[in-house]
Amino acid sequence: MKSYIPAAVICILLFVGAQVGSVPPVSKRFSSFDPQVKELLSKMTLEEKIGQMTQPEQGPVLKNPGDMQKYFIGSVLSGGDSDPAEGNTLQAWTDLYDRTQNEALKTRLAIPLLYGIDAVHGHSNVLGAVMFPHNIALGCTRDRALVEKIGRITAEEVRATGIQWTFSPCVTVPHDIRWGRTYEGFSENSTLVRELGEAAVRGLQGRDLSNPLAILACAKHYIGDGGTSASTVPRPGMPPNAKPALWLDQGDTKVDEATLRRIHLPGYISAIRAGVGTIMPSYSTWNGVRCSASKRLLTEILKEELGFEGFLISDYNAISQINPGDPKGAIATSINAGMDMAMVPTDYRNFFDNLKALVEDGKVPMSRIDDAVTRILRVKFAMGLMDKSRSQMADRKLHQSFGSAGHRAVAREAVRKSVVLLKNENKTLPLSKKIARIHVAGKSADDIGNQCGGWTVFWQGKSGAVTPGGTTVLQAIKAAVSGQTQVTYSADGTGAEGSSLAVVVVGERPYAEGIGDRADLALEAADVLAIENAKKAGIPVVVILISGRPMIIKDILPQVSAFVIAFLPGTEGQGITDVLFGDYKPKGKLSFSWPKSMEQLPLNINGPKEKYDPLFPYGYGLSY
Ligand code: BGC
Ligand code: BGC
Repeated sequence: MKSYIPAAVICILLFVGAQVGSVPPVSKRFSSFDPQVKELLSKMTLEEKIGQMTQPEQGPVLKNPGDMQKYFIGSVLSGGDSDPAEGNTLQAWTDLYDRTQNEALKTRLAIPLLYGIDAVHGHSNVLGAVMFPHNIALGCTRDRALVEKIGRITAEEVRATGIQWTFSPCVTVPHDIRWGRTYEGFSENSTLVRELGEAAVRGLQGRDLSNPLAILACAKHYIGDGGTSASTVPRPGMPPNAKPALWLDQGDTKVDEATLRRIHLPGYISAIRAGVGTIMPSYSTWNGVRCSASKRLLTEILKEELGFEGFLISDYNAISQINPGDPKGAIATSINAGMDMAMVPTDYRNFFDNLKALVEDGKVPMSRIDDAVTRILRVKFAMGLMDKSRSQMADRKLHQSFGSAGHRAVAREAVRKSVVLLKNENKTLPLSKKIARIHVAGKSADDIGNQCGGWTVFWQGKSGAVTPGGTTVLQAIKAAVSGQTQVTYSADGTGAEGSSLAVVVVGERPYAEGIGDRADLALEAADVLAIENAKKAGIPVVVILISGRPMIIKDILPQVSAFVIAFLPGTEGQGITDVLFGDYKPKGKLSFSWPKSMEQLPLNINGPKEKYDPLFPYGYGLSY
């Protein structure tokens, strides 16, 4: 019988080969550190091993002097609002890191700790850091090299505080923009998420994790966090004041395994290829089973099939959510499923005691503990944490470049490459810098907090002057125009009479996670009013929308001359004026489909073709 290889197979082989070939391998496999790990592991008691698997939040653990040593804590985190008691300055954060690390070095084996934080768009908890656009905007750039560069700068600013681990990139594939975490995703398109997620990991971790300017990355939230279906049942763990009419966050992703793999897995495959050291299992469930409890997902697919050699960090209190009535049973389920480190912000003592008892009772095998600790220590060795000749204190020389003009220039580049021009009637844009008078309006025209969105200094972000440095759109317009141009401003759009044109900046106020779940994405009444007031002056109106996702603009769009979506651009408003005044041509292409109405949701390119009838399709974007 004649043997032959079908053409399709050859194509697939060539495709896979080309992909692997185009990507230089990371310096070393994590398992190449196993000989050193084994030696250290053999000296460790059960308590010391469990300590490596325990990650409290800094506040609670430092409040209890002696706990770092008593529980042999191997890692600490700062959650969204877990700030230094002294405030959010660079100095205070660096001091907090050094203080915490010093405590860990007092343990018997003096294993340095990993300090983790959500540096999700720059070192976004720290005042004066450069805040890059959120991922939804970066998706509009389609620019891998830029995303890698952003990762590198973020790593450097995080390192300036001594911290060595970020819970990013988020490689979610949001399918429903009503979800409050939509902006954390690069795109609804898995291919784009795969490419940009990989670039982000390369930027953050560099080619060699032992580089003192690299930080450990974390691909999250594995898996299907963006595929949940809307529900009216409130999620656990949300603040009592959060009452969206519908919930998507931490919900259930009801798809078969083939669909789960096709849409939600590619970002993890490429992150692993880029050498990502950690992955965070999702709060959400897959067909009713919590990801944090699924051996199929954590061990069989990630570790065995995809060969992931780093470690899994649970989400904030996620293990207890598996079974709130049986915290001990939940720990057994999750650790046995393959979870390696537990994010237990306040409940770390119970986690430690329960896990110890579970091992002693034979409910969690010692081999599983050894595997988890091996994975954690591999990463610590790979990062140079175990190198006794290296100081584990912060390198304060890096304070010099923190929030620097050079770093801001890259953020500004990211902004101008990400803004998407949706409408430009009669060539309203680009504007002349010599225009006689521009009236600027809208609640977000002079609001750096709205530009930055959630996960900015505060977990939920905050409107107003949330961080120093950077430029609002109003400031950027004033800086861009000629000396003869008059710039006037009113939040509500009144007083525009006599100007040549109005620029109205409107959109969402900051939110994070489930608190941003929305049943209605209409513009606020005050935003519509600002646009209408500016219109009354009988001049062309340019709208700039600053929001974490597409909003319903079908009725407002015909009334305005030009419409730009900036999503959440971060601190560098000048990236917007770079495009408005034509110094750079708009290049951004939508990373998400734009619906006409709420009734169409969820609407995305992965859904049924015959129902795909967006206002603007995925990839849309004009230029001049
Ligand atoms: C979020 C994660 C985040 C963690 C730590 C959780 O609530 O889901 O994305 O990394 O908190 O702040
Ligand atoms: C923390 C966040 C965390 C959230 C979960 C907040 O208090 O700051 O990091 O994601 O709680 O509910």
